[in-house]
Amino acid sequence: MSTPAPVVVSFNNPPAFITLQAHMLAEERRYPGTSGHLSWIVSALAIAAKTIAAKLKNAGIEDVLGDFGSQNVQGERQQKLDVIANHLLIQLLGQREGVAVIGSEENDELLMVEAEAGGGQRFAVLFDPLDGSANLDVGGNVGTIFSIFEVPPGGEQLLQPGRRQVAAGYVLYGSSTIFVLTAGHGVHLFVLDTAVGAFIRVQRDLRIPAVGQIYAVNEANLASFPAGYQHYLAQCRETGFTSRYAGAMVADVHRVLLKGGIFLYPPTAKAPTGKLRLMYEANPMAMIIEQAGGLASTGGGSILDVCPEHLHQRVPVALGSPENVTALLAELVRQA
Ligand code: AHG
Ligand code: MN
Ligand code: MN
Repeated sequence: MSTPAPVVVSFNNPPAFITLQAHMLAEERRYPGTSGHLSWIVSALAIAAKTIAAKLKNAGIEDVLGDFGSQNVQGERQQKLDVIANHLLIQLLGQREGVAVIGSEENDELLMVEAEAGGGQRFAVLFDPLDGSANLDVGGNVGTIFSIFEVPPGGEQLLQPGRRQVAAGYVLYGSSTIFVLTAGHGVHLFVLDTAVGAFIRVQRDLRIPAVGQIYAVNEANLASFPAGYQHYLAQCRETGFTSRYAGAMVADVHRVLLKGGIFLYPPTAKAPTGKLRLMYEANPMAMIIEQAGGLASTGGGSILDVCPEHLHQRVPVALGSPENVTALLAELVRQA
């Protein structure tokens, strides 16, 4: 009897079951010169995300809701989960080889991590540990936002324009836990498989729709927006837009990324330079949106070109589908 010929099976085309970790390792292999530290950092972010997701699921049962009883550097009341998520991220990232600098919404200053012997490629990781934390008490959507830069040799000029981010992304803690990542070569979306305990890639090279019919803005501030924003929003209402606003940037931007449209946090009377923070809210979201084919503007220029002056500086934000953002910018110029 002759031996049957072996069956050749290819698992590569298309890859069926790619975890976040496998995705990152493959990305790094494509770009020689990277040290492997970036995937190691993203893996710390993924562990933090899984832990935060688990805490959020049990919020109300475990004692993790409500005020922590302190304020952060920006005078905002800290929620217990802001503090828990921040601590977790600092602990996990601080132990990762390659992390040189940590910056958080919840810490006044940058934290400098001692270098290990051997040196090598080093990164700064900046984050908003829990975005939209006012939604916590009502079981609403919240997120984590992160931005990663390479620390320049010599270490001076730690804060750099968003254009120099090497990776950025966010985690949305919603009906599922979603990890959206760019390392400068497209935007990829992963969903946490809770049975397996891993983020599984469900979309590669995500593209934002060229135009959309949704705007996300806190309309209660409308009267104090500069005229151009007011005119643009009036046009939107007249042309059949719908409004969606979760009050958590991650949730609102995620909707715009998938469905198209525009997210706005313009200057207001209360916040003349806008409310959102450049380094750990606006920059990472701008990189995601631009990598997906959208636009991200301060109303004057690209968010990614703003030269940072300090960790907690604020910036007006308009981002989303290219046609929507272009129409807004035209209105801003017209009304200037
Ligand atoms: P954080 O909870 O990290 O302080 O961020 C809240 C931010 C952002 O997520 C959201 O887009 C915005 O605040 C909402 O602000 P308003 O309540 O003024 O609309
Ligand atoms: Mn935030
Ligand atoms: Mn926050």
